[in-house]
Amino acid sequence: MSKIDLLGLEGVPQEIITKILDGAAEMKKVLLSGKKKISLLEGKSVFLMFYEPSTRTSSSFDEAAKILGANAISLAVSPSSVKKGETLIDTAKTLDYMQADIIVIRHSVSGAPELIAKHTKASVINAGDGLHEHPTQALLDMLTMRERWGTFKDKKVAIIGDIKHSRVARSNIWGLTAMGAKVTICAPATLMPAGADTFPVTIARTKDEAALDADAIIGLRLQLERQDKGMFPSVSEYHRFYGIEQSVIDAAKKNVIIMHPGPVNRGAEIDSNSVDGVHSLINEQVTNGVAVRMSVLAYLTGKLDEFLKPNSQKRKVMPL
Ligand code: CP
Repeated sequence: MSKIDLLGLEGVPQEIITKILDGAAEMKKVLLSGKKKISLLEGKSVFLMFYEPSTRTSSSFDEAAKILGANAISLAVSPSSVKKGETLIDTAKTLDYMQADIIVIRHSVSGAPELIAKHTKASVINAGDGLHEHPTQALLDMLTMRERWGTFKDKKVAIIGDIKHSRVARSNIWGLTAMGAKVTICAPATLMPAGADTFPVTIARTKDEAALDADAIIGLRLQLERQDKGMFPSVSEYHRFYGIEQSVIDAAKKNVIIMHPGPVNRGAEIDSNSVDGVHSLINEQVTNGVAVRMSVLAYLTGKLDEFLKPNSQKRKVMPL
């Protein structure tokens, strides 16, 4: 069997996204069972290479791999040979020779996961690359929406904020539209990517216009570390025109759900009332992140079908 990578959601068909979400829904039962250990990936090694900071993605991949019974190895990038001049490809090949089955990589350069996927036998998962994609974030966002709605058909999702620097926005645009949802995006002109008019989305001029009749609103982190100065006059002005707050919720459907990939800059792209309010599913997104990553690890190692079989022995929790 040739290896499968998960480098992005662009071009990934509805059937595969559905399969991963179905898998995640079942994996969530294991996660919430109180005995978080099955043997599905026993004998497999999952290496985590995070060249940018991460709390949610790195720790949830680590937890996911361990729950499934795999060996999870977090590469400490700073003390590793990267600092001694080793290239990214040589580092990844080294993990290949250690019999890595899966390499999870986050990198500031768009395309870095694709580059190492071309040079390794291990399956590669993109955990966020530059301005390109963050596919497992969009999958966990979609699981959270599907749990609430059951379907994506005719659902409207508004993505508001720094679209230009957001790999989360890109993955959600490709994933949600593949699943039949309608996506509207809204950003200041300086934070709207070139070519946005070629995306399969509607572009709204104001946040209230974007939120009108929305079933879900995704706020995006203001990525100050990736921005040149002068993209907007001040954080308070940005919040006034593009921040998620009550007026945006009021413009949407009555049962709108508020989502954010985290980490949240309270008072910048979203206010505290919206983060902690009744519409927010931000904490549910974090839980679903582990379930989705369990499903993705199982899918890439060819184990998901075995897990999903009715009465599969592989769902049995291992004695602790
Ligand atoms: N959403 C997300 O990618 O969060 P982390 O940066 O904490 O992994």
